[in-house]
Amino acid sequence: MKLIAELDNLADAFAAELAGVASAAEAESLRNVRLGRKGDLAALMNRLPELPAEERPAFGKAANAVKERLNRLLEDRLAAFRAEAEDASLSRFDPTLPGRMPERGSLHPITLVMEEICGILNNLGFETVYGPEVETDFHNFGALNFPDDHPARDMQDTLFIAEGIVMRTHTSPMQVRAMLERKKPPVAVIAPGKVYRRDYDLTHSPMFHQIEGLLVDENISLAHLRGVLTHFLREFFGADVKLRFRPSFFPFTEPSVEVDMSCLICRGSGRREDGKGGEDGCRVCKGTGWLEILGAGMVDPAVFAAVGFDPACAGFAFGLGVERVAMLKYGIDDLRMFFENDLRFLGQFVK
Ligand code: PHE
Repeated sequence: MKLIAELDNLADAFAAELAGVASAAEAESLRNVRLGRKGDLAALMNRLPELPAEERPAFGKAANAVKERLNRLLEDRLAAFRAEAEDASLSRFDPTLPGRMPERGSLHPITLVMEEICGILNNLGFETVYGPEVETDFHNFGALNFPDDHPARDMQDTLFIAEGIVMRTHTSPMQVRAMLERKKPPVAVIAPGKVYRRDYDLTHSPMFHQIEGLLVDENISLAHLRGVLTHFLREFFGADVKLRFRPSFFPFTEPSVEVDMSCLICRGSGRREDGKGGEDGCRVCKGTGWLEILGAGMVDPAVFAAVGFDPACAGFAFGLGVERVAMLKYGIDDLRMFFENDLRFLGQFVK
């Protein structure tokens, strides 16, 4: 039985070759060559007609048995390769290594400063209110007593969206919205948020943040404004901060003041830290001992009239630049840091 003998040879050769393969891929290609549809075993089985009819069934049976046996051998070998690979990857796994923690985010320093400021003012009874960044000319300018030809309304200063629609240039329109909504005194609100101007250089960004404050009640005077701001600055910057009012002008307040606080670096002395002084002394306050931090004043009767409040009402308003205050608090000298989103910078303000 020549064909049967060839079958045995093939089986022996296969077993020997299988013992020699070095990888699962090699074992698979051996399967193709020897046991596949066009492989050696298939070629052998195709020669069935060479046999006398009575021997064919026995050969067919034997061939199938060989095919099954060799496939089993091959499966065992593949399983061994899989187990080996698993062992290898386990030995590379070190369960004693520290785990990888997901990176933690943190609030932006501007958000932190806004929250802290609002918290201090909330404690005094001011309620936080929010309003739109796209405003009407009426809320942003008209009701705030800006004359039609005021330079702030110029295309050079203000971002216009459409006729009579502007990106708010300050948070003061929230004074108008709060009073229109409350209809009569008392009103005690703060309004934090983004404002927009056509400005871009080292110390100006086209988008920045302000916090507006407004208190309207009976018998409110500049002294109340001073008391509230003094309390706020001491809570925020420290107990020894001093405060100074300078006359100023805003269309919506009368009188208007610019508020300075004593310089945080030279503590109001105007001298340089190292005592050398030089020509201009302290670099932060330029030797003056004072830092300008906000604009404020008594609400102008024209504003009360625009919102339907009795023009005999009394109230104060203030508007504070958040970036400016944050720069002073953290000693940051480049405004752009806040907008570059460099994680090395932002990560320093995790609370
Ligand atoms: N809105 C003013 C500005 O952006 C600041 C301000 C607010 C002044 C409230 C007085 C009262 O410059």
